[in-house]
Amino acid sequence: MDKIIVHGGRPLSGSVKISGSKNSALPILAATLLTREPCIIHSVPDLSDIHYMLQILSHLGAHVERASGTVTIQAEKVATVAPYEIVRKMRASVCVLGPLLGRHKEARVSLPGGCVIGDRPIDLHLKGFRALNAACRVESGDVRVFADELRGAVVNLEGRQGPTVLGTGNVLMAATLAEGVTVIDGAAAEPEVVDLADFLTKMGAKIEGAGTRQITVEGVKELHGAEHSVIPDRIEAGTFLVAAALAGTEVTLRRVNSGHLGAVTNALNDAGFRTDIVRDSITVFGNGAPNPLHLVTEPYPGFPTDMQAQMCALLSRASGKSSVTETVFPQRFMHVSELKRMGADIHLDGATARICGVPRLSGAPVMASDLRASAALVLAGLVADGTTEVNRVYHIDRGYESIDDKLMGLGAEIQRVKHRATA
Ligand code: EPZ
Repeated sequence: MDKIIVHGGRPLSGSVKISGSKNSALPILAATLLTREPCIIHSVPDLSDIHYMLQILSHLGAHVERASGTVTIQAEKVATVAPYEIVRKMRASVCVLGPLLGRHKEARVSLPGGCVIGDRPIDLHLKGFRALNAACRVESGDVRVFADELRGAVVNLEGRQGPTVLGTGNVLMAATLAEGVTVIDGAAAEPEVVDLADFLTKMGAKIEGAGTRQITVEGVKELHGAEHSVIPDRIEAGTFLVAAALAGTEVTLRRVNSGHLGAVTNALNDAGFRTDIVRDSITVFGNGAPNPLHLVTEPYPGFPTDMQAQMCALLSRASGKSSVTETVFPQRFMHVSELKRMGADIHLDGATARICGVPRLSGAPVMASDLRASAALVLAGLVADGTTEVNRVYHIDRGYESIDDKLMGLGAEIQRVKHRATA
């Protein structure tokens, strides 16, 4: 398995271009199954999760072509069963359920298991499909959804942990081809849901309220091909903002939507870092040890759970005591024990990390456990004394396009050691 080696203490400066959003691109690629006509999607990041999604679409019978960041997909005829071998690698595979159900009134996909960030149920997705008149069964480890006809309905998708992002997208996609009007209450308002709704609208769907907690969809008979550019990745951008705050002098992020990053830039400002926004770029200025913060993750527009681990890395070096409470995935703290191995002083108290800032971190061999935890370890390595070896970096490749090259472009001393299979 590849590893990333970070030699700490090199200041970051310069500019970096942010890639298209993984979490927008995944459901948008799945949405191309809703039409037999070709769709062209730009700014698709080159990531392993995207490759898995394209493999699933190909397996289902779609013709997929990829040239640089542009993907052209034509799903003239599609099968309705997604294979376990690919689906098991990525939980977001469940977002083919909605479009297949919408178009063919039937879909079968392996039921996703839990993952390191906690139990990941899909009960709310199924609640939405049932409301649209579909039956849902679990058979031999697969979830099967089917209907004679999909009928619009009013459904509330708010769960105990708040709204569901992929669940909202899934039900939204199915509802575009349902008979009549669907109202999704308790909908997720994340920018990725808005991006999906924008793409569906270009395909001919009739959607109102995306970006609010109530989305209304008037079903249409069919959708057509469309061309779309995926929004910039707000979590990749947030990760580079934190990297710059930790180790930068002056770093500019290009191709960002600063409107999507308010919670992160506000937190950085509270921590004592200046951020300047000019059109589609943000510059962050290093300022020594951060002020301590008390953060709580929340659905958008609150502080994103996908930035929690990176913020723990930053606050490990704060000048005082911080707390970070996770409300979306209360068990998502796999990075804490690894940060402690680097000298961080963090105590887990239920779903709250209590962090006592330390003046120095020290490099260590650490283990990446999930995507954002891995990013947090690389960030900590940027300011740690000595060398940090982040193992199992396939996690990071799921969600960060060339993170090592991009950090190197900013002056970090970082290298990827390729694993060579032995005979
Ligand atoms: C999306 O996952 C993102 N993934 C996650 O990003 C992100 O952490 C999450 O939204 C929250 O923002 C993609 O977009 C591919 P949820 P999703 O359904 O949609 C509970 C990353 O690092 N829930 O919004 O699967 C759930 O357990 C990833 O890029 C139910 O109870 O998350 C959680 O507590 C990881 N029943 C909460 O809702 C359901 O049916 C929010 O989950 C569905 C979810």
